[in-house]
Amino acid sequence: MSAGRSILLWGSKNNWMRNHVPKFRFVRHAVKKFMPGETATDAINATRELLKKNIPTTFTHLGENIKDLSEAETAANHYLELIDRINKEKIDIEVSLKLTQIGFDLSFEKTLECFKQITKRARECGNNVFIDIEDSSYVDKTLDFYKKVKVEYDNVGLCLQAYLYRTMDDLKELIQINPWIRLVKGAYKEPENIAFKKKKDVDDNFFELSKYLLSQIQERGIRVAFGTHDLKLQQQIRNEATKIGLAKNKLEFQMLYGIKSAEQYKLAEEGYNIRTLISYGEFWYPWYMRRLAERPANVWFVAKNIFRN
Ligand code: FDA
Repeated sequence: MSAGRSILLWGSKNNWMRNHVPKFRFVRHAVKKFMPGETATDAINATRELLKKNIPTTFTHLGENIKDLSEAETAANHYLELIDRINKEKIDIEVSLKLTQIGFDLSFEKTLECFKQITKRARECGNNVFIDIEDSSYVDKTLDFYKKVKVEYDNVGLCLQAYLYRTMDDLKELIQINPWIRLVKGAYKEPENIAFKKKKDVDDNFFELSKYLLSQIQERGIRVAFGTHDLKLQQQIRNEATKIGLAKNKLEFQMLYGIKSAEQYKLAEEGYNIRTLISYGEFWYPWYMRRLAERPANVWFVAKNIFRN
């Protein structure tokens, strides 16, 4: 991991920076590259534009590591109202959330209660919910959580990270319950005894996991979303799908709002399923620092905003 990336990931957890950095106007300006705005209405307006290009979205209302369980209810209520609004406006938007936003650091049971409320409402509205995956200290607990929810609700998916050595084993265990999986590389700072450090190793493992998942789309009809902006990997996955006879419309890619937009449009034009994940909300600091860490060159973009009016 580069020094720049390590510093940015350290910064994402630093309390002083969490409290002060978001106040700078030039940082608020730079965030707009990845976020259409802080409200659900901003994100819905962005979705309407994307839908003109046949690209539906997934919404994440930013928040993580709450300190009080009352905040879990506030966060859950936000998602319940959002799902109702999506249903009323008849627009293709799914939701994806972090378990620590609804109390995972404080109470497994309360988190389960909040999550089931959200998932139940989503199911009633014909909608789906994905669980974001956080740092490695949460993985065991999140897998247990997912298995518990999946028994009752089939409209739930889980994100897994290709940088962790364990992920193939986790997938093979989960496959019994026909999981829905969003595969990503992984956005946190992890030690080398549990995670690949070199980009090439992470990419190779992503492709190995993808081959396994493609075979499972074919055998079991599970839903898989390949969450990456890495065009080379996307091409490898597309080639492998063709090789095993999987039609384009069985493949789903997911990418983040504001990153490689032209390539997102192109995937849609070519007949692949592509869904854009839009994050919004006021609590954007740690999430934004992880986006900067993925491409430290983004820091120059932030710096350039210092000189805007
Ligand atoms: P890689 O980092 O190799 O980037 C490939 C290319 O994409 C880069 O060369 C650059 O051009 C472009 N790019 C990538 N990131 C960029 C950025 N921030 N700014 C500008 N350009 C960028 N992680 C996690 O741990 N838990 C989760 O739940 C999720 N959820 C999630 C959902 C979806 C839909 C996506 C796309 C990603 C996530 N992630 C995530 C983040 C993921 O783990 C990973 O950090 C990023 O996707 C970056 O990795 P890539 O696969 O894009 O490849």
